[in-house]
Amino acid sequence: MPSPTRFLVLAALLVSATAIVPPGHQGLPHQTPTDITHPTPDNAVIVDTANQVDQKTAPPVDTPPNAAVAPTLVTAVDGTITNTTVADVASTSRRRRHHQIARKFGRDPGDGLAKRQAGKFEKVFDGLAAGQHDASIQGTAYLTYTVVNNATYNVQGCLDWCSTIKGCVFVNVYYEFNNYLLDFVFGEKSNLKCAAYGDLHTAAEKLNFGGQASYPQVGNETVPLTYITQSSGWGLDSLVDPDTPDGYELVFGPTGGANNAPGYMGFSFIDKYDVDACALLCNGRGVDPNGGGCAYFNIWRAVVDGVPTTYTCSMYYLVADESTAVNYGQGPLVVTLSRGYARKSALIDGGFEGYTACDDFCLTESYANWVGTSPSGGTFDASIFFFQAYAHTGHGSALLGSAFGIDGEAGSLTPAQPLQTDKGANYVVQCFMSSAFSGPQIEAAAKVDILWNGERVGGTSGFTEYAFVQASVVATGSDKLVFVGGSAPVWTFIDDCKVYKV
Ligand SMILES: *[C@@H]1O[C@H](CO)[C@@H](O)[C@H](O)[C@H]1NC(C)=O
Ligand SMILES: *[C@@H]1O[C@H](CO)[C@@H](O)[C@H](O)[C@H]1NC(C)=O
Ligand SMILES: *[C@@H]1O[C@H](CO)[C@@H](O)[C@H](O)[C@H]1NC(C)=O
Repeated sequence: MPSPTRFLVLAALLVSATAIVPPGHQGLPHQTPTDITHPTPDNAVIVDTANQVDQKTAPPVDTPPNAAVAPTLVTAVDGTITNTTVADVASTSRRRRHHQIARKFGRDPGDGLAKRQAGKFEKVFDGLAAGQHDASIQGTAYLTYTVVNNATYNVQGCLDWCSTIKGCVFVNVYYEFNNYLLDFVFGEKSNLKCAAYGDLHTAAEKLNFGGQASYPQVGNETVPLTYITQSSGWGLDSLVDPDTPDGYELVFGPTGGANNAPGYMGFSFIDKYDVDACALLCNGRGVDPNGGGCAYFNIWRAVVDGVPTTYTCSMYYLVADESTAVNYGQGPLVVTLSRGYARKSALIDGGFEGYTACDDFCLTESYANWVGTSPSGGTFDASIFFFQAYAHTGHGSALLGSAFGIDGEAGSLTPAQPLQTDKGANYVVQCFMSSAFSGPQIEAAAKVDILWNGERVGGTSGFTEYAFVQASVVATGSDKLVFVGGSAPVWTFIDDCKVYKV
């Protein structure tokens, strides 16, 4: 029984609501017309930034061999040069567990080994004759180096070692003279360096001539400078196809075209071709107020004047495909190895586009993908609409609150099947919700709860036009998602829901 005051408030609301034509009768949506132009990449900024980054390296003179491969670095974010880890960039917009950062590159005697051996290393370029000064590669995607037994020019020893380094597709073999640490300090007592790279390089990139003072100064004697001889390059005949990152699916690639697609959120440059790093950047990208979370990324390599220069991750809130992968480069910059990956949603038909019983206006309590339920005595307290004017995008949306304004009960909306998830993994539920239909005064009482296996994990309250709502959850492997709310004439529309693994 409502208290007398509550009853009066309700009565007043009903009176003021009498003028409102309910959604079930195709009433007017109280909504600012969405005139959103979905942004596309600013390719000039990308090219400009590619001309500024310098992520080409050679093994340092003063670092011991066999150092662990450093985590992938982010060298630019949206046109600003940076030098930071993927974890740091991803957690700036969303605080995430750092230990989840996958290590694609690094020592991997497992599947990486099998893959590397499937490829065939070929000589890419020869070293100069033994007596001449040569130069080592100064290139992108440097991983780490070792020294191999220098009794012979031991290319095989280098290739064998490379096959134990995940992501190694190219090695540069060379002697480095006058390096005091190699000659006297490091245990290997070898000056035959073997540098591993995650990208293929050519003789045009022999740019490290040594010339560093490594020996200690003794009295007034001239310190001999380092120099390099017999620098040869060995690479796989083609780059290894990367494993698809967890939570994603390959949409296209590799091709020579980057996406020029709508829903662009921005880009990062990374220091090697690391699809896992792009996935983490996409997961941690934050949200676009109109478009929601990152739903897709496009990774590609920028080759400038024939030389690998940087690796781009472009992020989108709309899933793109090969039809828009038409940016082949600009001037000396050529797009290579472009691949698109879509983020998988554990939620089937979260945009309610699967309800297609009409082509203009219709509604239902349930269809193949979603089930709306009313409490006993309630009518259409949760429903699904085909009507473009009510949708955030497309033509489908769901409604909580009696669609014809018959009762004031809260409805429940749930997917027809439990969500197939990875047990124990973290997910995020993302939706757009609009509690605006009856205007600010009435909709001030709006309230929708997101229930995950019966527990409230988030929701929305108060008057709002379509706005992004999200909740973090932990999966059990088969999960029940329910949206509960509405109390006509307090209605809430729901659209464009995703359940992403993070
Ligand atoms: C980037 O950071 C790493 C680690 O902090 C450092 O070793 C390196 O010198 C930095 N590079 C640039 C270009 O600042
Ligand atoms: C092998 O490397 C060691 C250490 O740098 C050096 O002293 C020696 O001369 C090298 N031997 C050959 C054959 O180059
Ligand atoms: C170096 O020092 C020695 C003795 O201290 C001296 O005899 C010699 O002339 C010096 N050489 C040069 C090039 O200064």
